[in-house]
Order: sequence, then structure tokens, then C-alpha cells
Amino acid sequence: MMRAERTPRLPRDNARVLGGIVRGKRTTLRVPTEADLTGFARWAADLRVRGALTRAYWDEPAMLATWKERLAKQSEDKSSTLWAIDGEGALAGSCRVEYAIEPGHFGNDGIGITHFTIEPDRWGQGLGSDAALALHRWIFDIVHARFAHTALAAHNAGALRVAERLGYETYARGTAVHYGDGRYVDGLQLRMDLTTWDERWGATEREYPVPLGEELEA
Ligand SMILES: CC(C)(COP(=O)(O)OP(=O)(O)OC[C@H]1O[C@@H](n2cnc3c(N)ncnc32)[C@H](O)[C@@H]1OP(=O)(O)O)[C@@H](O)C(=O)NCCC(=O)NCCS
Repeated sequence: MMRAERTPRLPRDNARVLGGIVRGKRTTLRVPTEADLTGFARWAADLRVRGALTRAYWDEPAMLATWKERLAKQSEDKSSTLWAIDGEGALAGSCRVEYAIEPGHFGNDGIGITHFTIEPDRWGQGLGSDAALALHRWIFDIVHARFAHTALAAHNAGALRVAERLGYETYARGTAVHYGDGRYVDGLQLRMDLTTWDERWGATEREYPVPLGEELEA
């Protein structure tokens, strides 16, 4: 396990920025540890994962030492959070979000999902949908962000299915804007609002119900 440095007590907002543990029904989002590095490194080099993506940030293949450096750097970054996803007792994936951190703005400018990967050998078992729902509970119920946004390659049918079921809508399409694995692919920009979360998932998934209504008019 990576040894955590003792840090002084953090102000309330910063403690929230760190992400913490988020539980889904079959998956748990948690702080990554050194034991996760081999999984991260393997997925980054897996052509099934690379072929689905439009870009490579956390996904660039690298040696384990480089992954360790990336993880250490990530843990210091106040404007993003990386989680490892556990699924039924084993590491099943990872996801990462970015946000604006000016005082009073956390969540208000939207939370961007920059990375979301499930172990390719376990695709199609519902783990992605479960972890994505847990992540959006964090985004909307815990952070209370007004909206979430992400970018997907237009051919990424699995990710689009997960996103559309959550309530994302495509608001922009770029034609042949990304080059990877020997071909150009279209890029989609997607967005989901707090109101959609409340309407679609309010009755079953809300963890910390907050009054919407008037608050959303403000
Ligand atoms: C996208 C991803 C996270 C989905 O994870 P998963 O665990 O396979 O997701 P689920 O098992 O919950 O499946 C989600 C839905 O997509 C569908 N799906 C999955 N792959 C599909 C494909 N190639 N074509 C059509 N539908 C597909 C599933 O049938 C399921 O729909 P259903 O519940 O209606 O049957 C996973 O494929 C992945 O890690 N891809 C590579 C990285 C990536 O693309 N990340 C997203 C962008 S950051």
C-alpha cells in the first residue's frame, strides 16, 4: 500500500475535494493504492480500451515507475480526483473527474469526467453502469454540482449506452476530430444536469436529499 503522508487538518471544502469512498450496489469507488498500479498499467496498454477512447491522458502506456509518479502527482492535484473501482472483491477499474476549485465554485461550474475504465475482461457484466451511477451520486448528491460533462468517441457504443441511460445528452459533435489506432473518429460532447439526475434517479438513488425547486431558480 502507498503510505499516506500525515497532513494537517484540511478545511471542509478540501476534504470534500479528495473524493472519499463512494459505494454502489456492486462496486466501490475508493482511493487508489500502489497495489492498483499493475491494473492501471495493463488497461492503458490494452487495445480494447485504447480503441474506445478519443484521447490518452491516464491511458498512455508507461512503466510501473511512471505510473507510480502519475499517481503521486494525482494525489497532490486539488482540481481533480482519481478513484480506483472495486467490483465484487477485486480491482475492476478506475475513474477520474476534474473541477474548478475557486472558493465557492466547487461543483458550480460542473464536474468533468476525464476518465472511466472498467477491466476489459469484465465488460458487459454491469459493473460500468453500477460504478457510473455511484460516481453520479457523488457528483450530484454529495458535491451538488449543477451539471456533469464528458467527451466520448462516437463509436464507443458501451460508454454511450451507460451515459444515455444516466441522462446525458449530446450537445456537440466533431467530425473526424480524433486520430487513434490508424483511423479518424468523431468526438461527442455530452452533458447531464442536476435536474435530470433528480427527475430520473431522485426516487431511488438520492443519498443526501437536498431541496431543489427554489434553489435551482437561484
Ligand atoms: C464503457 C465501459 C466503462 C462500460 O463498462 P461495462 O462494465 O462493460 O458496462 P456495463 O456492463 O454496465 O454495460 C453497459 C451497457 O452498454 C452495453 N454495451 C457494452 N458494450 C457495448 C458494445 N460494444 N456495443 C453495444 N452496447 C454495448 C451493454 O450491453 C450494457 O447495456 P444494457 O445494460 O442495456 O445491456 C467499458 O466498456 C470501458 O471501460 N471502456 C473503455 C474505456 C471507455 O470507453 N470509457 C468511457 C470513456 S472515458
